[in-house]
Parts: sequence; C-alpha cells; structure tokens
Amino acid sequence: MPENVYTWEKGIAKPEKGEFIELKEDKTLRIPSYPVIPFIEGDGIGPEITPAMIRVVNRAVESAYGDSRKIVWVEILAGDKAQEKTGERLPKETLDFLKKAVVGIKGPLGTPVGKGIRSINSALRRAFDFYSAVRPVYWMGQPTPIPDPARVDLVVFRENTDDVYAGVEFFSRTEEALKVRDFLLKEMGAKEEGFPQDIGITVKPMSEFKTKRHVRKALRYALETNRKNVAVIGKGNIMKATEGAFINWAFEVAQEEEFKGRVLTDPEAEPAKGQVKLSKVITDQMLMQLVLKPEAWDLIIAQNLNGDYVSDLAAALIGGPGFVPSGNIGDGYALFESTHGTALDIAGKNIANPLSLILSGAMMLEYIGWKEASEKIYSAVRKTLEDRIGTPDIAAGFRKRGEEAREVSTTEYAEEIARRIN
Ligand code: NAI
Repeated sequence: MPENVYTWEKGIAKPEKGEFIELKEDKTLRIPSYPVIPFIEGDGIGPEITPAMIRVVNRAVESAYGDSRKIVWVEILAGDKAQEKTGERLPKETLDFLKKAVVGIKGPLGTPVGKGIRSINSALRRAFDFYSAVRPVYWMGQPTPIPDPARVDLVVFRENTDDVYAGVEFFSRTEEALKVRDFLLKEMGAKEEGFPQDIGITVKPMSEFKTKRHVRKALRYALETNRKNVAVIGKGNIMKATEGAFINWAFEVAQEEEFKGRVLTDPEAEPAKGQVKLSKVITDQMLMQLVLKPEAWDLIIAQNLNGDYVSDLAAALIGGPGFVPSGNIGDGYALFESTHGTALDIAGKNIANPLSLILSGAMMLEYIGWKEASEKIYSAVRKTLEDRIGTPDIAAGFRKRGEEAREVSTTEYAEEIARRIN
C-alpha cells in the first residue's frame, strides 16, 4: 500500500498529517489540503477493486496538485473483515470515524442470508441519513447493448429513505392482514372487490419533508452542473397520495425563493444558461423514453422504488452496473460506492472490473471540489477504453463486437489507467 494509506491495525487512529473535512453549520464542507478519507475495502472482490481505486485516485490527485493536496486514506472496517477482526459486522468505531470524517468510500458489502442479519448498507444509510442516492450514468467508450450510447448522459436522484422500503408489510391470511383489511373496509371506505380475504398488504409512506429535501438537493445539483432538462417521475395518476404528492411537492420546491427564475416549470419554456426546466413524466413513459431517446433527459428525480428501476435501466444502457458510480448523500455526509455486489464467483482471481469504484472515487473528488483530479480520471479511463484494454468482462464485450481487445487483470488495469494520467 502507498505511504498515504493507513490500514486498520487493532483500531482506527487519525494519522497526524491528515485533517478531517469540516461539516459547517450551513451543511457545506471545508476541505483541508490533506483530508482524511476513510475507506471500507468491501467483501468478495472488494480487496481487489479498492486498491485499484486508490491507485488511480492517488495518481490523479498527484498529477493535478503535486504535493499541495493529498488524500490521507484510513481503513475502517465493515462486513466480513470486521466480523473476523472485531466480532461485529459494523463496529461502532467505524460509524464514529465516518461521522468525524464526513466523506468516505466503500466497496461492496455482502448480506449473508440468514435470520436476524441486517444489511450493513441500510444500517449505514440510516446512521447518516443518506437521503439521496445519486447515480450519474454516462458512456466512456465501453461496449454497450445499444447503438450510439453517447446519447446517455444523465444523473438519477433516487430518494433513499421513504416508500415501500419502510418494511411495514402484512402477509396474506395473517391476523394482521385481516385486521388491516377490516379497518380499511369498515372505516376507510375501501371496497370488497379490491380487498378479498386473501390479500397481502405492503405500506407505501411518502413524506413532504423527505421529498422536498431530496428535490432541493437534486435541483441544486442540476443548476451547479449545468443539467438543463430535469424530469420528476412517478405514477401520480394512480397513486395520488404518494407519487402524485411527490410530484406536486417537487413543483412546490421549484417555486421556492432559492429557485425563482432558475427552475422553469412552463412546459414551453426554453432554459437559458443558469436555468433548468422541470418536467413531469409518468414512470412507464420515462422507462420507454430512456431506451428510445435517452438524450432528452439530463437528470431524473425519483422516489425510492421508481428510482431503483430507473437507475438500473439507465446503467444497463451503457453496459451495466460495472461502469456506473454512485453516491449516498445526506446533509453534507456522503459515502461513495460501487454499484455492483461482491461478485463472489470471481473473487480472489484479480479479474474484477474496478471501474464502478474508480468512477465513484472520481465522483467523490468532484464532491469535495477537486474537479481537476476527477477530470483526469475520466479522461484516462476513456483512453484505456479507446485503446481496447480491459478486464475480462470488458475485453469480452469488445470481442463480441468483432474488435480486438487486450485482456488485463484488475491490478494491471488500474496501472494502465494510472499510466494515462498526465
Ligand atoms: P453481484 O453484482 O455481486 O454479481 C452479479 C454478477 O455480476 C456476477 O456474475 C458477478 O461476477 C458479476 N460482477 C459484479 N461485479 C463485477 C465486477 N466489478 N467485475 C466483473 N464482474 C462483476 O450481484 P449479486 O450476486 O446479486 O450480489 C452478491 C452480494 O453482493 C449479495 O450479498 C448482495 O447483497 C451484495 N450487494 C451489495 C451491494 C453493495 O454493497 N452496494 C450492491 C449489490 C449487491
């Protein structure tokens, strides 16, 4: 490991030369020149793709800023490694350190099948109130299932704390389901025909407060990054009290002082520089449009479940989750991560595609304002793909198109990207 990487040794200590990012009262960040960035290696292919990401990010920062800026990487534990070393899958010291550091990055974490084992990803989301899951989807030159993939360049903002994920469910024929059914029929005006004896019920809560903070974050991002055509999706025509309300609340946010004159809601409006246009699109329409004319949208604001569908479809258009980064973002706190899982079938072979995590590293650099370094990563990744170099999955994609490709290991791939940063 390079000298600016501090691996976990019987506990976590802040290295002397690093400084924590400061979360100010207005929820903006102060970034020191040597910020401490905690990383969770991840399970399965995590120990292979995480060093690859660190290698590329280090090289980009060095190339952009010389010695004047450097990330001080500190390993924190979660998942299998945490279980092995501390007896817990998500130790308190991991959460405490992440809280102090504000911004971090992680590899994939597995959720072992079994009763009582909770997902670490959702525990992290709850602990830091990461209410927006942000997934930029753009093409970098990799083989894709659609022709002309350069048309895809959009960001999905998925609300991450509301919706059917609340976990309030009643299985068919249980006492609880019958009780809820009874209440709906007797007191809430529900009709027998839609509510027969054998129904299961899942509750779908959606809050004005949660929706609005998410929409504000998305609109600010759209304005800052010059993304003009913003869609808020949902099946508001069917679920008026939840997805319909979500859409209405989004349009209310557009009327707030902060967005006046900058977020246009007239369907005929043409946004000028410094403006975005907010449109309402029914979810099924959006799914179709993403395939037929993805260039129409720069940013999509979605509820939790719709966001789940839309972000996977968008990722598939440009080759799958192996090429898409993601960020879990709350009020200042942010944790960036690869979008794929632990890929146990290829773990330990040094053949995993590290791009999702490398691009998440670039997204993290953008988040802390180190754009010169993130640009260098994007450009170097493009060059390696132009040169037809990649891990076996990427090389196989090129060959399927009848093109030659050089197949390299995860480690070599990171080196090839780092070599193209200058
Ligand atoms: P998966 O993404 O791990 O694997 C699906 C398929 O894609 C496998 O054939 C795998 O080899 C391939 N694949 C995935 N990432 C790849 C990469 N970087 N390079 C080359 N091939 C790659 O999905 P699966 O099997 O559904 O999930 C496995 C575990 O990962 C589960 O425990 C799940 O809970 C966890 N998971 C964790 C996530 C996270 O930490 N954010 C996200 C998704 C799943």
